[in-house]
Amino acid sequence: AAGWPGLIETYRSYLPVSESTPVVTLQEGNTPLIPVPSIAEIVGKGVRVFVKYDGLNPTGSFKDRGMTMAISKAKEEGARAVICASTGNTSASAAAYARRGGMRAFVLIPDGYVALGKLAQALLYGAEVLAIKGNFDRALEIVREMAESYPVTLVNSVNPYRLEGQKTGAFEVVDVLGNAPDWLCIPVGNAGNISAYWMGFCQYHQAGKCDRLPRMMGFQAAGAAPLVNGAPVTHPETIATAIRIGNPASWDKATAAAQASQGGFKAVTDDEILDAYRLLASREGIFCEPASAASVAGLLQVKDQVPAGATVVCVLTGNGLKDPDTAIKHSDSQFTQGIEPDPAEIAKIIGF
Ligand code: F0G
Repeated sequence: AAGWPGLIETYRSYLPVSESTPVVTLQEGNTPLIPVPSIAEIVGKGVRVFVKYDGLNPTGSFKDRGMTMAISKAKEEGARAVICASTGNTSASAAAYARRGGMRAFVLIPDGYVALGKLAQALLYGAEVLAIKGNFDRALEIVREMAESYPVTLVNSVNPYRLEGQKTGAFEVVDVLGNAPDWLCIPVGNAGNISAYWMGFCQYHQAGKCDRLPRMMGFQAAGAAPLVNGAPVTHPETIATAIRIGNPASWDKATAAAQASQGGFKAVTDDEILDAYRLLASREGIFCEPASAASVAGLLQVKDQVPAGATVVCVLTGNGLKDPDTAIKHSDSQFTQGIEPDPAEIAKIIGF
């Protein structure tokens, strides 16, 4: 293949694959690390801030990093079907990779709480979509149970190959910066990605690719912040539906990562999330989904604790196009409709 071959080929020696693993790839990974000077200016103190824009993966989220691994390994093991619970992105990614690998994809989603773009993707990719009267946590319990009793492979992040793939996000950050950042800010829902990034940084550190490890700062939505509260949340609520999760599966791994790195978990309100979401788009030209903006909202909340001159990376986990409803509803741009198609009229409205 010409150009970037996808992350399994690129990071093969760090991943549990062999010559006989059938690689199912959409050439995911290699996403840009973009400087965000207007965010850095708010933080001040000569701090450098970058976003890892993982919304530019093939299905529009970081899930593709995990899914190329999970689906390739499922295929290697002869699976004919995969199943997952999802707030939306996992379902889109599982559907794309499973269908490309010639498998059926069953996805359980919380009815009414999945952003439109994600649902559209799962359907068009050819998943069998089952919307349940219950939230993500309940859906995850069900698919875990079903994968034990039926011939179907679970591809949620409790599948260890998912985190193996997702750790490559950390590799790419180090490969570009030449070292690990001082801080890594990341949204947390089911807590798989923060665990995967930590794994990646530690593995690269051991391999001599970086000489330090970042402080892992996980940000949850205030209405869905079990790791901040220290207890599961029975009825999680947030505008950031991707992280509307009350009982994260990777609780222990994420807690260990935060502790070992002297990081921690903090809650950001929906208003803080929306402010960061609009700021990234309107000042930096970067359109992410609300859940992703939690990483930048979190950085801005704790900016006084960032040391002078530090390098900070915020992970933008998903593309803004995933959730057009929220964008339209919460944009503060002027949108005038029903205008006469007349230059003079338009000039008057613009104020020329
Ligand atoms: N950001 C986005 C855009 C997500 O879709 C998710 C999780 C997260 C952050 C949190 O990552 O769960 O590893 O802590 N989405 C899952 C899904 C739950 O089903 O798509 P996490």
